[in-house]
Amino acid sequence: MARCFVTRRIPGPALDRLEQAHDVEVWPHRLPPTPEELRAHAADAEGLLTLLTDAVDEELLAAAPELRAISNYAVGTDNVDLDAATRRGIPVGNTPDVLTDATADLAFALLLALARRLAESERDVREGQWITFEPDRALGAEVTGATLGIIGFGRIGQAVARRAEGFGMEVLHSGRSGGVSLDELLERSDFVTLHAPLTDDTRGMIAVRELGLMKPTAVLVNTARGELVDTGALERALREGGIAAAALDVTDPEPLPRDHPLLGMSNVVITPHLGSATEQTRRKMAEASVANLLAGIRGESLVHRVTLPTERELSTR
Ligand code: DGY
Repeated sequence: MARCFVTRRIPGPALDRLEQAHDVEVWPHRLPPTPEELRAHAADAEGLLTLLTDAVDEELLAAAPELRAISNYAVGTDNVDLDAATRRGIPVGNTPDVLTDATADLAFALLLALARRLAESERDVREGQWITFEPDRALGAEVTGATLGIIGFGRIGQAVARRAEGFGMEVLHSGRSGGVSLDELLERSDFVTLHAPLTDDTRGMIAVRELGLMKPTAVLVNTARGELVDTGALERALREGGIAAAALDVTDPEPLPRDHPLLGMSNVVITPHLGSATEQTRRKMAEASVANLLAGIRGESLVHRVTLPTERELSTR
């Protein structure tokens, strides 16, 4: 029996299997453990199951000398210092594939919501602003025939492209696997959607210059990581008409403070990191992350082991 620390209760029966096989402590709270709490609870752990809100850094690894496997309940592993884990010979697992369609669906839902001004119109109805059919009220943008720019053309980006084809959109993509240049994509697209992993290379990749290349009528959708976008630059672009609208399922910081200006803008839709949030997907993520941890504890290859950026293609999310 190995000691395992799981940083939040995860849906479905997978955790029961882990609990039957090992000595498992599950963090019971709604908010994540602080770094100090995480270090204290991981101190004697041989297996660690983390969420994207937990920083698995050098300090944590140093505080957990027994650790034999880390399993991240996410496809993104930007919360894990992969170099530090590799130096200590600790394999890191993630949950690719199972969340591709759910995340692509949400990106498309947000795109449609922006195009057709759903959130602000729904608010109008609730607030009694909708008094009759008006020919010129809440006019949105046509999706059919519009150009969609997909930044990061891994699994999720490609799944978004398949959806866009069904809507009769022209699709451009840019990323490590080819496509057009980022600048060309930004200049030509009516809708831009982000699907790149967060790395040192992609952090802040959408900033003042990039927003300046976009059409004033263009909209930005982010279901990847908030840190891909310079939040201050985005807020200015939205306020000054540099771009028309944004839908953010992820933000920097996440969550935004309640008085953040983006939360008061009618041309912004913000959702609470819902990309993978379907019943089925979150259960599959639980299965995948528990399978990774069980394999790692047994000293076997992880089902989905994350390799260092130098070892892999960066845009395979
Ligand atoms: C991930 O897996 O990286 C998502 O952001 C959360 O499911």
